[in-house]
Amino acid sequence: MAMMPLVPAALFWTMVLVLGLVSAFKDQKNITAESGQNVTLTCRAAKNNIIVLEWSRADLGRQYVFLHRDGLFVPDDQHPSFVNRVDLQDREMKDGDVSLILKNVTINDAGIYECRVIQRKTNRRKRAYLKTPPISSINLSVVDPPGE
Ligand SMILES: *[C@@H]1O[C@H](CO)[C@@H](O)[C@H](O)[C@H]1NC(C)=O
Ligand SMILES: *[C@@H]1O[C@H](CO)[C@@H](O)[C@H](O)[C@H]1NC(C)=O
Ligand SMILES: *[C@@H]1O[C@H](CO)[C@@H](O)[C@H](O)[C@H]1NC(C)=O
Ligand SMILES: *[C@@H]1O[C@H](CO)[C@@H](O)[C@H](O)[C@H]1NC(C)=O
Repeated sequence: MAMMPLVPAALFWTMVLVLGLVSAFKDQKNITAESGQNVTLTCRAAKNNIIVLEWSRADLGRQYVFLHRDGLFVPDDQHPSFVNRVDLQDREMKDGDVSLILKNVTINDAGIYECRVIQRKTNRRKRAYLKTPPISSINLSVVDPPGE
């Protein structure tokens, strides 16, 4: 008869959870740019119905890198160092492309950038400063261009 021991359900789900957490952690992307370059911080949400898009950097507290709500850029609470330096790669966010272009990077831009969205039907809250897990997390390093 059946000689193969069955993995107890609790153990199975624990394994699923642990593997899930490990792979979520690995999802952090590392990118390196030279100062003066424009960099694209890539992030892709599920298609359409994006109510709020927030790009943040953990060390900036409640100030945003970029905030977009109900189809409009929200300038309040944008960290001053990003004013006029960030833009959506695709202003229409077609196919859920919510990637951000950061222009003329400097050493001070190094850090971990996170992308979050609220989409219609998933959540009724309209407040920004989202508590949901990021859908993209990018560790940006900035180096001096060679020969300086
Ligand atoms: C990014 O760098 C961290 C530490 O520097 C490393 O643990 C991680 O595996 C790297 N992620 C990728 C996707 O290379
Ligand atoms: C960065 O983008 C700006 C405008 O979007 C452009 O004028 C500039 O040449 C770009 N810089 C580099 C280094 O590509
Ligand atoms: C890029 O930033 C540096 C200082 O951070 C500034 O001197 C320079 O004018 C900027 N370049 C552009 C094209 O905005
Ligand atoms: C981000 O990248 C820097 C430089 O490569 C590295 O020192 C740092 O440990 C990384 N941070 C994380 C959380 O992976």
